[in-house]
Amino acid sequence: MTTSTSTPALELRGLTKRYDDGFLALEDFSLTVSDGEFFGLLGPNGAGKTTLISAICNLIRTTAGEIEIFGHHHSTLEARRMIGLAEQDINLDRFLNVEETLIYHGGYYGMSRADARIRAKEMMEVFDLSSKAQTAAPKLSGGMRRRLLLARALMHEPRMVILDEPTAGVDFELRMELWRYIRRLHRGGTTIVLTTHYLEEAEELCEDIALIRDGRLLARDSAAGLRASYGADSLADVYVKAMAL
Ligand SMILES: Nc1ncnc2c1ncn2[C@@H]1O[C@H](COP(=O)(O)OP(=O)(O)OP(=O)(O)O)[C@@H](O)[C@H]1O
Ligand SMILES: [Mg+2]
Repeated sequence: MTTSTSTPALELRGLTKRYDDGFLALEDFSLTVSDGEFFGLLGPNGAGKTTLISAICNLIRTTAGEIEIFGHHHSTLEARRMIGLAEQDINLDRFLNVEETLIYHGGYYGMSRADARIRAKEMMEVFDLSSKAQTAAPKLSGGMRRRLLLARALMHEPRMVILDEPTAGVDFELRMELWRYIRRLHRGGTTIVLTTHYLEEAEELCEDIALIRDGRLLARDSAAGLRASYGADSLADVYVKAMAL
């Protein structure tokens, strides 16, 4: 856990989300993520992870509670600019090529065309997409689309990056590559919030992990702390025990 005393990257207080059909997806959820922390969110399908992320990014209306991003209310422009989101669903515009996808995103976030062009070139190099610069999203492979999604999330140099299952369905090599890149970002001071169903991924990367089920926070600690408190040998063992309670 980071010992920074600065304003937290993310602060949730009493967050509750009831969808329009009456389903209670999050209940009284409180959580603080420190500036610069590498944070993991684990829980089974339907636990509420994506709902939580959508609420943080102001993509859905919340029912109750407060959300602050580096001290700013999550609905403000300041907050929006500090977050880079790579969503679970790959939502790329089918009519844009790789380069346009990145440049347009920069434009939405107030970058000048010249800056966006330079940054897009850099991102395409980092994510090995330069040879596909003029290729439209539907003509990319699945792994390339994942990489483009991540490159797009990073275009405006956000202070906090939220990755909703970034390695779902990617091959071993790309996963290792993404790990390396995410680690590098973290070392550079970027706060990372990651959801994954790969427990070894969370154990390997995250400084602190929250376990969530049925829209509630069950536990939050380092992997070692969770292993100790659940009397478990591995994070997988912790997970099985926590979810069975
Ligand atoms: N628009 C909606 N209207 C009603 N219920 C919804 C809506 N969106 C999500 N839910 C419900 O909220 C619950 C939490 O969904 P969410 O997508 O947050 O889960 P998750 O933890 O991200 O799961 P996964 O690991 O499968 O991605 C689920 O029961 C889901 O059906
Ligand atoms: Mg999800």
